[in-house]
Amino acid sequence: MGINLSVNFLGKKLTTPVILASGVSGYSDELIPFLDPNSVGAITTKTITLQPREGNPPPRIIEVPGGIINSIGLANMGVAAFIKEKLASLLKLPMKKIVSIGGAKEEEFPLLARMLSEFRGIDFLELNLSCPNLKKQKLFAQEPETCLKIIKNTKRVSPFPLIAKLSPQVTDIKEVALACEEGGADALNLINSLPVLCYYAAGKKLRGGLSGPPLKPLSLRLIEETRKVTSLPLIGTGGIYAGKDIIDYFLAGANCVSLGSVLLLEPSAPARIAKELKEILASSGYDSLSCFSSSTGL
Ligand SMILES: Cc1cc2nc3c(=O)[nH]c(=O)nc-3n(C[C@H](O)[C@H](O)[C@H](O)COP(=O)(O)O)c2cc1C
Repeated sequence: MGINLSVNFLGKKLTTPVILASGVSGYSDELIPFLDPNSVGAITTKTITLQPREGNPPPRIIEVPGGIINSIGLANMGVAAFIKEKLASLLKLPMKKIVSIGGAKEEEFPLLARMLSEFRGIDFLELNLSCPNLKKQKLFAQEPETCLKIIKNTKRVSPFPLIAKLSPQVTDIKEVALACEEGGADALNLINSLPVLCYYAAGKKLRGGLSGPPLKPLSLRLIEETRKVTSLPLIGTGGIYAGKDIIDYFLAGANCVSLGSVLLLEPSAPARIAKELKEILASSGYDSLSCFSSSTGL
């Protein structure tokens, strides 16, 4: 039986529901040599900011039981260098392209969108409203009104559909999701890593974002809650290591998924995961993922 893993996301066809999450595949060049391009529906760049950022001092990644904590601090070359040095090779890739942007201040999001607006090979912009590694007191994603404002102002100048990337550290995800929708978000990505703390040696601590398998049940719950209040397409992110994880995300209400930490351990994971998905579908007697999709969002 021919099994079709493709999904429709905001009117575009993704060859599989698997998106490479922001921050784990650089500007695209690092990971591409290890990938089977047919196993990946879209790639997300690391978050690009207006100015170059050195990021946080080491250690930037610590393994903890079950997952990892990262404190990269949005290290990146800044949007001008990204456009000059990296964008052309990104745009040559066969999968859909998502550029992640992050502002230190609210006003920087529309500025970034405007600078990227002439590069029509970009398929979507993702607004990183939820980076846990910055010194800011509060994440944008913890303030529904701020999310609304940022998205509305970015939407005015963006020719690209906007994905809002949300944080798990909120009291009511529904309120944030609805504010993003009201601001004009075209899709939501749940979730970024969870702000945490660990001691990795006597007296030495790392504040960063927890990712990997511990995030999956949390993300599933937030997706299920979000799906109750919106029909926007949802990208499910957090702890996806196997094909069966994707089925769980679809059952909770996601329309596609993104892979983060697994790529650090196993850069070729998308091909394995696509194969597992096909096996699950075949053994269940299905020929596409549509049977697991909620009727909304696509
Ligand atoms: C090393 C590392 C760097 C990351 N950098 C970014 C980033 O630049 N922008 C962003 O939106 N998310 C970033 N993330 C978060 C991931 O995109 C993802 O939301 C999170 O890791 C949860 O998925 P996972 O459990 O599959 O890793 C980063 C995660 C890791 C592990």
